[in-house]
Amino acid sequence: MLDTLKNWLFPLPHAKDLQWKGDGISDAWFEAHFNYAADVVAEWVGKPLLENGHTLDFGCGDGITALGLILRHQARKFTGVDISQTHKGLGKLAKAQIGLERLPRELTFQRIQAGEKFHLSEPCDLVITWSTFEHIELPYMAGVLDNIRRALNPDGMFFLQINPLYFSPFGSHLSRFNLPPWAHLLWTPQQVTDAVMSFAGEIPSDELEENFHKRDFSAYKQFVLNEYHQLNQLTTSQLVQLLKDSGFELVREGYGRVSLPAPAELLERFSEHDLLTDEVRLLLRKC
Ligand SMILES: C[S@@+](CC[C@H](N)C(=O)[O-])C[C@H]1O[C@@H](n2cnc3c(N)ncnc32)[C@H](O)[C@@H]1O
Repeated sequence: MLDTLKNWLFPLPHAKDLQWKGDGISDAWFEAHFNYAADVVAEWVGKPLLENGHTLDFGCGDGITALGLILRHQARKFTGVDISQTHKGLGKLAKAQIGLERLPRELTFQRIQAGEKFHLSEPCDLVITWSTFEHIELPYMAGVLDNIRRALNPDGMFFLQINPLYFSPFGSHLSRFNLPPWAHLLWTPQQVTDAVMSFAGEIPSDELEENFHKRDFSAYKQFVLNEYHQLNQLTTSQLVQLLKDSGFELVREGYGRVSLPAPAELLERFSEHDLLTDEVRLLLRKC
């Protein structure tokens, strides 16, 4: 309410009128999204779509990637959708990291409940999603893809990235607690829980985001364990099939592969592709 009143009295500035500087970024998480993720997305989707279209970031989290695409790649209009409210910390983060006094008016956020549909006032031209689709519970998946497909213009594009994929060495998202490769597939569930809950080391700096800062260490470990239990465990072939079944066709696909040898006992249960592929990037359009 206060924010709405403040924005009405003092409308947010256009991105082109904002001052910021990118050479003093000290936060590795911010850097990984504002620069790296934004650059990967820009390279995959191309400048014209960003500069001329309306982009939706599904599972936008704290919104740093969206901000990077607006400020560094001149994205014209951005809507971030998420079930969390971590975007509320974006203004403070951006001020500390790039000296930005106010967020640009090109960026708005919409909070939904898991499985709830988002609504846009006009169709969008591009949907991006970064490290989110492994978290969408399977019962919601068809509805989420239908929502995205309907929100897109007929010639709209959809960029989807996941890293790490579940069956890859660190696909549990628990490697920040120093678990060895494939521990989640080799150990019992209790061993995984015990290793996480007894961890007393430092979390790598590129994992230190809002969900870490707002909890004590024990609650943070429990939060990440809960996220681990909710991972949908999709393989790349299951994901591509789901997308095709939902009315998308592939325009481009890219896979990241780890250089570790897969354990023999896992090769008896899972394909080598699934064990060694840690990242998928897909560019899709409606068919
Ligand atoms: C690992 S975070 C990635 C966030 C952001 N894309 C980034 O790169 O920092 C996964 C995000 O997916 C969101 N999420 C999980 N399930 C969701 C759902 N059903 N609908 C929308 N967002 C969801 C979470 O709240 C979280 O922000």
